[in-house]
Amino acid sequence: MAILVTGGTGYIGSHTVVALIEAGQEVVIVDNLSNSKIEVVKRIEQITGVLPRFYQIDLLEKEQMRKVFQSESIDAVIHFAGLKAVGESVTMPLKYFRNNLDSTLTLLELMEEYHVNHFVFSSSATVYGKPKRVPIAEEFPIGEVSNPYGRTKYFIEKMIQDYCLGNPHFNACILRYFNPLGAHQSGLIGEEPDGIPNNLMPYITQVAIGKLSHLKVFGNDYQTPDGTGVRDYIHVLDLANGHVLALKKIQSNPGLVIYNLGTGKGYSVFDIIKTFEAVNKVKIPYTINPRRPGDIDECYADTTKAKKELDFVAMYTLEDMCRDSWNFQKTNFKITDSSHDAK
Ligand code: NAD
Ligand code: UFG
Repeated sequence: MAILVTGGTGYIGSHTVVALIEAGQEVVIVDNLSNSKIEVVKRIEQITGVLPRFYQIDLLEKEQMRKVFQSESIDAVIHFAGLKAVGESVTMPLKYFRNNLDSTLTLLELMEEYHVNHFVFSSSATVYGKPKRVPIAEEFPIGEVSNPYGRTKYFIEKMIQDYCLGNPHFNACILRYFNPLGAHQSGLIGEEPDGIPNNLMPYITQVAIGKLSHLKVFGNDYQTPDGTGVRDYIHVLDLANGHVLALKKIQSNPGLVIYNLGTGKGYSVFDIIKTFEAVNKVKIPYTINPRRPGDIDECYADTTKAKKELDFVAMYTLEDMCRDSWNFQKTNFKITDSSHDAK
């Protein structure tokens, strides 16, 4: 029996495919390569010695997806595929609703048709919106999200919840990721954003390599110890391991379960800059800029439930995340990329 991984050539998906193969699972990947490259499949083979079966299919193409369910013996689905750029979702909300909602609906319908009853979904801490306090526990209210991307995560969570109520045989695990960083230590897979990065770490690594001139720190007047935004950064290898544990959990037929995947520790933007500079011996010039609309002061996870019920504990440190992100950037830097500097 195989695990179908949608979005399996993407950033978190590719690391999870590696972890699944290393845990002895058979993996089938579906990805339309809208935000990843076919080389990733080969790189997964380089790391694990196993070439996963790969289908270049858009999840919106139901008939093509049906063929995958017909020809593969699928026991569980881990659903990473989705669009994730917050800013783009504000200017192109329909694209986000169509892609993220429709793809999930197609998948759930095919799972019902082929009696596949194990599902893991990539949600996000963004569903909590601005929390009343930190750390954030799973039972905190959700839905007050500030952008269409976050809204798709909220809607899909509700879709899964309703489906679980209607189908008592269905087992689903919703994982709410905090902020993933880092890359596989081989430097073969990692995060490769197109154009100018929106997220902090890819921006920092591109400053470090000289592709961008300096980091713009978005606000130093937040209600945090040093005034900059605080987040719960988690190594992508820890996240990948969280999926292996989630899969094990849903095999015990729990119905619907929801977990935060974070470290439980909050670090500020200045903490990240200082740690990156110290670990990698590179200077990160920065300027203080106005706050970015929609950003919150602090966001970090209460990890109690994931620890108790999933046996999930993040192992990697912020130093590991900074080292591995930089290693991936150095290993994969292409000279031709240096054309788009945003000074
Ligand atoms: P990613 O963009 O690297 O990977 C997503 C993959 O899905 C890409 O390879 C893309 O080509 C594919 N895809 C998108 N739409 C598709 C479609 N219609 N059909 C087939 N393939 C499609 O993103 P990631 O960082 O690996 O994120 C994985 C999941 O985790 C996403 O759902 C994302 O929203 C969620 N998430 C990410 C973060 C983060 O900060 N990276 C945080 C919280 C949640
Ligand atoms: N930041 C800067 N300068 C930058 C980029 C970010 O100062 O150039 C700051 C932000 O203001 C924030 C922190 O760095 O305080 C982290 O910002 P990111 O953009 O890296 O991450 P966010 O917490 O804003 O959001 C990310 C994903 C969301 C996801 C959320 C929680 O982009 O999709 O984590 O999982 F929902």
